[in-house]
Amino acid sequence: MPKPLLIAPSILAADFTRLGEHLQAAEHAGADLLHIDVMDGQFVPNISFGAIVVEACRRVSPLPLDVHLMIAQPERFLSEFAKAGASQITVHFEATAHIHRAVHLVKELGLKVGLALNPGTPLEALKPLLPDLDLVLIMSVNPGFGGQKFIPSTLERLKTVRNWLEEVNPTADLQVDGGIVASNIAEVARAGANNFVAGSSVFNTKDTVQNNINALKAALQVTT
Ligand code: DX5
Ligand code: ZN
Repeated sequence: MPKPLLIAPSILAADFTRLGEHLQAAEHAGADLLHIDVMDGQFVPNISFGAIVVEACRRVSPLPLDVHLMIAQPERFLSEFAKAGASQITVHFEATAHIHRAVHLVKELGLKVGLALNPGTPLEALKPLLPDLDLVLIMSVNPGFGGQKFIPSTLERLKTVRNWLEEVNPTADLQVDGGIVASNIAEVARAGANNFVAGSSVFNTKDTVQNNINALKAALQVTT
């Protein structure tokens, strides 16, 4: 059975003076989850925000909160993000020497768990944990900033991971993050992704959140 195709707007690109409004617009436009990018200025060369923003999103939106931790040694902060209302937490393979422990700590907190890989990390890194995951995140840009260009070699990486998941964990989501726009989302779906993070193509000054999400969904229709 084909997996549902999920749109996950990244709040990193939202106007923080109007965050509540933007999140409601995303919900009304049919967003499936909210992607929340946490950056520490160490694992990635940028600082965004912490659990306090997750907690604010929880108060304003009923959508599942998909927390992408781009922080060194994420195991230090997992319970804080769980308490703030995260529905699922994704940790980076590259961010800790103890990725197995980090993944299992998220599960013990009762949350769904994702494992993220940077574009330069060999896919084999996923293998030991593949059966334990709810989500695999294949980064399609180097993490740290919104608005970057999709790295084309991601397509092959998605195909490989989708095949692996079919064999060992067919219910897991395959998420892609970075540079997703209406003109590439169908191709990315054909490569096997079913969960699409979109920041600057959802929250921008060119069009409304509703129209932007509609455009992504319309482009996805082509694949079904
Ligand atoms: C990048 C973040 C992304 C980012 C995506 O480090 O993980 O989630 O917000 O932004 P766009 O969709 O603009 O590439
Ligand atoms: Zn992200």
